Amino acid sequence: MQYSRGWRLLHWTIALCVMTLIPVGLLIDARTEANLWDSTTDLLYGIHKALGFSVLLLMLLRVACKLWLQAPDYPASLSRRQIVAAKSLHHLFYVLLILVPLLGWAGVTAFPALIIMPGVELPAMPGVPVDQALAEKLFRIHGVCAIVLACLVLGHIAAALYHRFLVKDDVFQRMWFRRR
Ligand code: HEM
Repeated sequence: MQYSRGWRLLHWTIALCVMTLIPVGLLIDARTEANLWDSTTDLLYGIHKALGFSVLLLMLLRVACKLWLQAPDYPASLSRRQIVAAKSLHHLFYVLLILVPLLGWAGVTAFPALIIMPGVELPAMPGVPVDQALAEKLFRIHGVCAIVLACLVLGHIAAALYHRFLVKDDVFQRMWFRRR
């Protein structure tokens, strides 16, 4: 059994965004630490804000899918413990994939730094005041949660590849494009 086509498309779109957002975020951090405020840094900020906000919107759609649709059954070879572990990790992903962009959005609202590129800007997050000290706190928590998310992503990819190439069961195929 596989996840539905739309659900898989959503998984891979968000996965690509996140796997771009994390290195871009680290690059932004390195450049600001080095006091490099040029057009490349601006471009990286723009990409990071646009992709981050897109992840937030896509996650709302994904939560709706999760509530509406039933995930396919796991292969019978998986133990109850493995299934509980996989589901718990997925739920943690959902929480972080909403929390991390929300913290980033709150941070750019408080700073304020809502511009993505000339003529395009994010809406301000309702209820968040302009306050630079608050923005710095929000960015710090955003960064810590993003690092936790990055570690989980690495573990998740390792587990997916383990199932695909070592165990050779159907777990990987559940989220892949074609059946073997
Ligand atoms: C090369 C990268 C990736 C691979 C090979 C991969 C593979 C998979 C596979 C095989 C599944 C199905 C496993 C199952 O149902 O237990 C799955 C599910 C899932 N993956 Fe990934 N994944 C990747 C990247 C990501 C990233 C970057 C994220 C989050 C940022 C993510 C989040 C999830 C979530 C939340 C599920 C559960 C399905 C759902 O509830 O929507 N994955 N992934």
